[in-house]
Amino acid sequence: MNHLRRTLLISVVALVATLGAGLAPAAAPVPREVLVLGGTGQLGAEIVRRLLVQGDRVTVFTRPGSDRSRLTGLAVRYAEGDLLNEADVAAAFDNNRFQYVVVAVRVLDGDPHFYAKFLPGLTARAKAAGVAQLIHHGAVGAGRNAEKFANLGWEKVPGLLDRLKDQGVGEDIVRGSGVPFTIIRNTRLYPDGTPPTGKAEFTEDDSVIGPMTRADLAVLTVRCLGNADCLGKTFHVRDPSLAWPPPR
Ligand SMILES: NC(=O)c1ccc[n+]([C@@H]2O[C@H](COP(=O)([O-])OP(=O)(O)OC[C@H]3O[C@@H](n4cnc5c(N)ncnc54)[C@H](OP(=O)(O)O)[C@@H]3O)[C@@H](O)[C@H]2O)c1
Repeated sequence: MNHLRRTLLISVVALVATLGAGLAPAAAPVPREVLVLGGTGQLGAEIVRRLLVQGDRVTVFTRPGSDRSRLTGLAVRYAEGDLLNEADVAAAFDNNRFQYVVVAVRVLDGDPHFYAKFLPGLTARAKAAGVAQLIHHGAVGAGRNAEKFANLGWEKVPGLLDRLKDQGVGEDIVRGSGVPFTIIRNTRLYPDGTPPTGKAEFTEDDSVIGPMTRADLAVLTVRCLGNADCLGKTFHVRDPSLAWPPPR
């Protein structure tokens, strides 16, 4: 028997033995369908990149005409619309079967009722679609949490306490929606593009306030997606390796 025929025979025998033992070759993991709101933004794009690296299928919800340059060259799909228009959100869910939703939007015009306006419609759609987890990026100081930081002079910043109140309303909508959720409260963000330190970690201690990078937030977000340990939790982030304010 020449070498080639012997090699072929050995391979066939090995395959038959494997199947016979019930050890069929492992199937490739099925990609998860993830909707990222705010995926064109600084934090959102970091999250999108990391989801794609691990094989997830990502749809980014974005307003028509918005800047998509952070996602150039990436294999994402887009759902166009304005979050404040419930019909646009409904259409995104009607046209797709999302298993996971990540909310990484930021109020861009200071609207103090932004989260109160869009989260009821979004969470109702997510619930009806059977979404397995919604990760909501909010802010330290949301709702009653602001009382933990009463000595920071936030009342002197015009509109800040109103926006934090809205963040609190938003969190309550997420918690009461019936959709499995994780809330990540961020704050004191280092400039866009700062590389991850790898030192950031979640804490459920809601008196923690400190700096963080968007890249680390993205790492933590992706680690949490599909992770039962994160469900029903509200996290602050602690990164002892960063100073505040960032060095110039
Ligand atoms: N930046 C800060 O100083 C700061 C501080 C604390 C917490 N945070 C939190 O960090 C997260 C992300 O902040 P970021 O600075 O990375 O965001 P960002 O770069 O400003 O991006 C904002 C995103 O929000 C989306 N968005 C805003 N209004 C929308 C609407 N009406 N419909 C659809 N999409 C809308 C935008 O999408 P399109 O333009 O594509 O439509 C954009 O992708 C948020 O949870 C924010 O609350 C930020």
